[in-house]
Amino acid sequence: METILIIGGTGAQGIPVIKALTSDRKYAVRVITRSAATLEAQLLAKLHGVTIVEGDCYDESTLRNILPGVDRVFANTNGLVIGEIAEVYWGIRLYELAREFGVKHFVYASLPYASKIGNFNDKYRVGHCDSKARIAEYISAQPTSPMAWSIIRSCLYIESLTEFLLPAYEPSDDVHVFALPLGQGRIPMITLDDNAAYVRWTIDNLPESNGLDLNVVTDSITGNDLAAAFSKVTGKKSVYRDVSLDEYFRLPIFPDPDAKLGPSGVLTVRKNFSGLWNSWKDDLWKWDHQVLDRVLPTRIKSTEEWMVKTGYTGKAVPLLKDFKFVEK
Ligand SMILES: NC(=O)c1ccc[n+]([C@@H]2O[C@H](COP(=O)([O-])OP(=O)(O)OC[C@H]3O[C@@H](n4cnc5c(N)ncnc54)[C@H](OP(=O)(O)O)[C@@H]3O)[C@@H](O)[C@H]2O)c1
Repeated sequence: METILIIGGTGAQGIPVIKALTSDRKYAVRVITRSAATLEAQLLAKLHGVTIVEGDCYDESTLRNILPGVDRVFANTNGLVIGEIAEVYWGIRLYELAREFGVKHFVYASLPYASKIGNFNDKYRVGHCDSKARIAEYISAQPTSPMAWSIIRSCLYIESLTEFLLPAYEPSDDVHVFALPLGQGRIPMITLDDNAAYVRWTIDNLPESNGLDLNVVTDSITGNDLAAAFSKVTGKKSVYRDVSLDEYFRLPIFPDPDAKLGPSGVLTVRKNFSGLWNSWKDDLWKWDHQVLDRVLPTRIKSTEEWMVKTGYTGKAVPLLKDFKFVEK
């Protein structure tokens, strides 16, 4: 049985990936976590084939101890918390160590290169996207043998509709408001289960997935369509309110918008997320839906479909393990 090392396994993205990899007992999985006592680690420990190893995945000796006997690596580094500079270092270092230890396949969870897609205009800089994308550029420049590589570029988790994208309820008008600096642009979102299914496909389908850089998305939706989908599915009144970036950062979503994003961060939270909203507002990110349909014919295709399937109500549910938003 092959063994897959997972970096970021206890996180919002990692847990569905591990469930997808272990559901049919085809793969064994090793997960590094800073604490085996967390709910997330305990949940994973109960899955068949999962070994939890306590340690820091951004520490060379921990990685050297865990890599012997590993056949594949799936890495979702956490640039949002460790910062842009540290993420670039550790993404590349993980690749190098995997090569050194004879790993046969390296799968990297990346994001679109927001600033590059925007011709490096400063208004499109998104530290936590750009760092993952720089790692993807490095990996793409490597040969596909002796170690195969695949890149899965996701986008906003659609489950963020319970946290980062939660509508604010205004009781005076009995309305749920999506107040977003989006203009007529679109928010690209992926369901975590479908993202995990793409990762599983990548693992199952060497050599087809070797050298593949796949942008994955469920739906890319305007503010008006998001509010309309919410109303249709829940029966509740809802509107989209286009707000300026200044208004947006006055909303209680980020505890400290002028803090640096992560200890090695370069941008402030405000600058980072302004870049993200600017690139969505100008609709810069693109996908090949034909490829996505072929790889995952069962994929969820719309926000409305996801809302129906999950019984979405607009209720707050914490999503991310290590990055905290303030409830609106
Ligand atoms: N939010 C989104 O919509 C979205 C979409 C696509 C990509 N991403 C990217 O996904 C990454 C975050 O992963 P996630 O969404 O799964 O977040 P999460 O739920 O907060 O999980 C964070 C993961 O990072 C691990 N980690 C290891 N060392 C860490 C450290 N020093 N500080 C903080 N965390 C550490 C945590 O492990 P332990 O705590 O167990 O050690 C945990 O597995 C970010 O790079 C983000 O840009 C996010």
